[in-house]
Amino acid sequence: MGFVFIDDRLVEDSKAVISVFDHGLVAGDGVFEALAVYGGTPFAVRRHLERLARSAAGLRLEPPNLTVIEAAIHQVAEANKIGFGKVRVTYTAGDGPLGSDRLVSPPRVIVAGAPLGPIPPTARVSISPWPRSERGILAGIKTTSYAENVVGLDWARAQGSSEVIFPNLAGMLCEGSGSNIFVVIEGSLVTPPLSSGCLAGVTRDLIIEFLGGIEADVPLDKVTSGDLSEAFLSSSLREAQAISHFDDFAMPVAPGPVSLNIAERFRELIKDNLNP
Ligand SMILES: Cc1ncc(COP(=O)(O)O)c(C=O)c1O
Repeated sequence: MGFVFIDDRLVEDSKAVISVFDHGLVAGDGVFEALAVYGGTPFAVRRHLERLARSAAGLRLEPPNLTVIEAAIHQVAEANKIGFGKVRVTYTAGDGPLGSDRLVSPPRVIVAGAPLGPIPPTARVSISPWPRSERGILAGIKTTSYAENVVGLDWARAQGSSEVIFPNLAGMLCEGSGSNIFVVIEGSLVTPPLSSGCLAGVTRDLIIEFLGGIEADVPLDKVTSGDLSEAFLSSSLREAQAISHFDDFAMPVAPGPVSLNIAERFRELIKDNLNP
């Protein structure tokens, strides 16, 4: 039996209900976080809560009660006996009308969790034929309006990939459906800047702050011109995962030395401090 947290309490999965008028369901009017859990402890909770608050502000939602949500994250990990896994926090505008207007109604908090299997060392990715807009109202916000990511990932899965990489409208690398991207060009570790429209990934931030890497635009055509010696994805649930192929273009080495080094040092960072 599993448990989820809804609004203000833990309930059994099978008894968990929310309104069909929830505006997150009706209009994708919500924000979310996905945290990794290591040995029963949710990782980087402070950073995820800070981003949740930023996302809510970006959506002009009432500020979330971070104290309640933090406690719920720990309760869900514990009640579901998650060793290695994930906890997801969803924060919606609450009930609304059957359209784009909002009602003045209390926001809704849903916290759920699940165990995860081991992370594969490499990933094949497909480059999306649909660009991500770095100029849209939702750029850089972790909203539940994720259908673009869902369709892109579904398309990539059909090509045999486990992630889709979106370029932006300017033809620069942006991010994946649920990950950021790092590449090694001429010996430098580079990741697209936030102005590319990507999410400020918690893993991306930790890598830049503690392990290295600079932010710079990467033209998409660098990918298949042989200018990249390595590439990896970063996310809470993939950590630092080397990219083996961009479509049918095989990277010279995966995981290469830089990717391996970052992946190992990221593991050490997790061991040292679960709330960096
Ligand atoms: C669109 C997008 N970009 C990047 C990431 C990586 O962010 P984080 O490292 O915080 O998991 C995610 C996480 O799911 C995401 O949804």
